[in-house]
Formats: sequence, structure tokens, C-alpha cells
Amino acid sequence: MSATGLKMRLTPTRIRAMKGGTPIVSLTAYTTPMARLLDEHCDLLLVGDSVGMVLYGMESTIAVTLDMMIAHGKAVMRGVQNSCVVVDMPFGSYQESKEIAYRNAVRILQETGCDAVKLEGGQEMAETVSFLVERGVPALGHIGLMPQQVNTAGGYRSVGHSGEEVGKIRADAEAIGKSGAFAVVIEGTVETLAREVTAMIPVPTIGIGASVACDGQILVCDDMLGLFNDFTPRFVRRYEELGKRVAAAATAYAVDVRSRAFPMEEHTFKRRS
Ligand code: KIV
Repeated sequence: MSATGLKMRLTPTRIRAMKGGTPIVSLTAYTTPMARLLDEHCDLLLVGDSVGMVLYGMESTIAVTLDMMIAHGKAVMRGVQNSCVVVDMPFGSYQESKEIAYRNAVRILQETGCDAVKLEGGQEMAETVSFLVERGVPALGHIGLMPQQVNTAGGYRSVGHSGEEVGKIRADAEAIGKSGAFAVVIEGTVETLAREVTAMIPVPTIGIGASVACDGQILVCDDMLGLFNDFTPRFVRRYEELGKRVAAAATAYAVDVRSRAFPMEEHTFKRRS
């Protein structure tokens, strides 16, 4: 608690200090009500660019814009008192130059009030991460499977199977580990490599599909809640089946409306005498 009685959010510095300790608990959030529900249970909430696929029905994260990320970042910040909030930098907002990355990261921090930004990339992005951090922008790295590279990588698939991939991910982890990033998301990466990288770098690794060896875990909230009835990736554990429950509730509502069982007396306004 602060002197004003307000609960203080976890800072990127405190997340960094969780290296090797109790695993970091992290989920994505995109809206105020969901952020309110998740906040007290999580150390870190990520306003991921997965919002494009999860809430907007996009096929990838490529079309997500900076304005979308800022709008959802603001929404999440309205619901959070405890967790460190990180907002994803969307495709095209940081790759061109470190100066453009800085300008867009500052927009995200100033307009949302979040604690840090996340950007995908290994060796090629390490200089940009350092540029941001040295100028006051806390940054979370993201290596392994990088969804913003779906068009050049040829799809979404786990990485670290070939000697070439192992060498690249090791080098990416080393570069981002030294860049000043306070932690690194490692996605869709084989266990042995995730374990090696976690032992090798001085900052926490937060895994998604990267085994229990990481310093923390993150999942897309809607996957974890079972809000989709179709495909579930291998690395997701569904803690609920909300998709099925929503469908059952909508079915019951439709039956009640069609049979005039809803609304009833208690839902109805009567003229005051
Ligand atoms: O956009 C996102 O949700 C992410 C997580 C999957 C790590 O980057």
C-alpha cells in the first residue's frame, strides 16, 4: 500500500528480482472487467497484440495498430491495482528504427499509464531494447516463436528442433538478456532449450509453450478460460469451459424469450402510485 492508501502495482524492477524464485504468474488481458478479475491473482498482465485474434477475429497479429494497443492498454489500466501492466508494441511500430520505436513506446507509456512495453525480436532487436531502456522505457523481450514473423517463418510452429534454430535462440536469448530488458517471454520453444536459456540469462524467462523450466508462465486468458470451442494448442491447460457455458446460457435465454418465461414480474417496472 502507498501513503495514500492506494495499492501499488508491481514494477518491472520487482518482476526482474523474481528470477529463480516463485514462478511469475502472468496472463493476457484486453478489457477493464477482465483486468479487474485477474489483477489480484497475477504478477504481470500483458495487453498482448493477440487482442487482434482473440477479440477482433483477425487471422494474425499483423493488422493490429498502435491505436488499438493504446485503447486496450487504457482499458486494462482502469482495472488494475496490483499487477505490472505491459503493453505489446504492434507489428511495424518499432522495427524500422530505434528512434521510431522510442517515439511509439513513449506514446504507449504516456497515453495508457502502463509500466512497460513488450517487443518481439532477438539479436536484431537488442540494440533497440537498450535504446529504450537507457532512455527510461522498461522493456520486456520476446523470443522463440514470434507471432509477428508469421509471414516469414511460414506459420506458427514450435522452435528449437534443429541445430540452426538452437544456435539462433541461444544467441537471441543472450543478446536480449544483456540488452537491459527486465524479463523475456520465450514462446513455443522445446524444453531443453528453454531450460538452458533460463539458466544462462540474468533476467526471468516467462514461458508460453516453453515448459515448466521457465521463471514464470503466461497464457492467453481466453484460451485458459476455454472461451473458444474449437482448437486448443498443446501448451494450454483449460481451467474452465466458458465457451460451452456461454452457449448453454444463450440457449436457455432464447427458450425463455420464445416461451415468454422471461421477463417475469420481478423484472418488470410498475407505475408508482
Ligand atoms: O500477444 C500476446 O498475447 C503475447 C503472448 C502470447 C505472450 O505475446
